[in-house]
Amino acid sequence: MSELISLQDIHFAYPGGAPVLCGLDLTLSAGERLSIGGHNGAGKSTLLHILVGLLRPSRGRVVAFGAERAEEKDFYEVRRRAGLVFQDPDDQLFCPTVAEDVAFGPLNLGKSRQEAMAIVEEVLARLDLAAYRDRITHKLSGGEKRLVTLAAVLAMEPDVLLLDEPTNALDIDNKVRLTEILLSLPQAMILVSHDHGFRNDIATRTLMLVEGRLTERPPRCVAGRSPAAPAA
Ligand SMILES: Nc1ncnc2c1ncn2[C@@H]1O[C@H](COP(=O)(O)OP(=O)(O)OP(=O)(O)O)[C@@H](O)[C@H]1O
Ligand SMILES: [Mg+2]
Repeated sequence: MSELISLQDIHFAYPGGAPVLCGLDLTLSAGERLSIGGHNGAGKSTLLHILVGLLRPSRGRVVAFGAERAEEKDFYEVRRRAGLVFQDPDDQLFCPTVAEDVAFGPLNLGKSRQEAMAIVEEVLARLDLAAYRDRITHKLSGGEKRLVTLAAVLAMEPDVLLLDEPTNALDIDNKVRLTEILLSLPQAMILVSHDHGFRNDIATRTLMLVEGRLTERPPRCVAGRSPAAPAA
């Protein structure tokens, strides 16, 4: 399988803060749907932000789409090819209407207005959001905003999807719909989620972020027994 993204020995701390990532390694290959779990504050969102160059590690290498990425200009291509759905939709949506928010990416990539609007119609229809086309973005509910952020990222036809808590605020019907949509997509993805059921439905591989590094998911405890205990 060809490697799309790799992080090597990444170290990171926010200014004046304790270390968040301490020698973290990660590889994402074509066709993989990698899920990352870990407790609140473990550094999952930080990791995604480092991947697209919104934060810079103090040590380590970011390699994406065949090249090492270190400076701001190196990350332009990464942000175009790796679509990040932010944990908080309000960090992502900034246009007056849904259609304009979804059109923003394609227009920015050089599509004509007509081409961009055709993409908007197609993506909104795919996510069952056609009725939201002319709604005022900041007046949408939390779950509606979450779906619009996904539409805005899919509209850019990225090679990789980076999804930070994509089921936040979604009702059960929309969670099922999101699961179907993600499973139907050809793109490799990194999925950060606290939702075990969702992770199990989607992921081809699961890692946990613990003490600043990624580790294989620990085996599930059987009730009343530690994972290492022999079977009765
Ligand atoms: N801008 C910031 N400035 C200082 N510290 C920050 C900043 N953003 C995050 N942190 C801290 O860095 C650590 C990692 O945060 P991060 O948001 O990456 O965690 P997370 O694993 O995504 O958590 P959650 O599951 O709650 O979304 C936390 O201790 C958090 O308080
Ligand atoms: Mg987070």
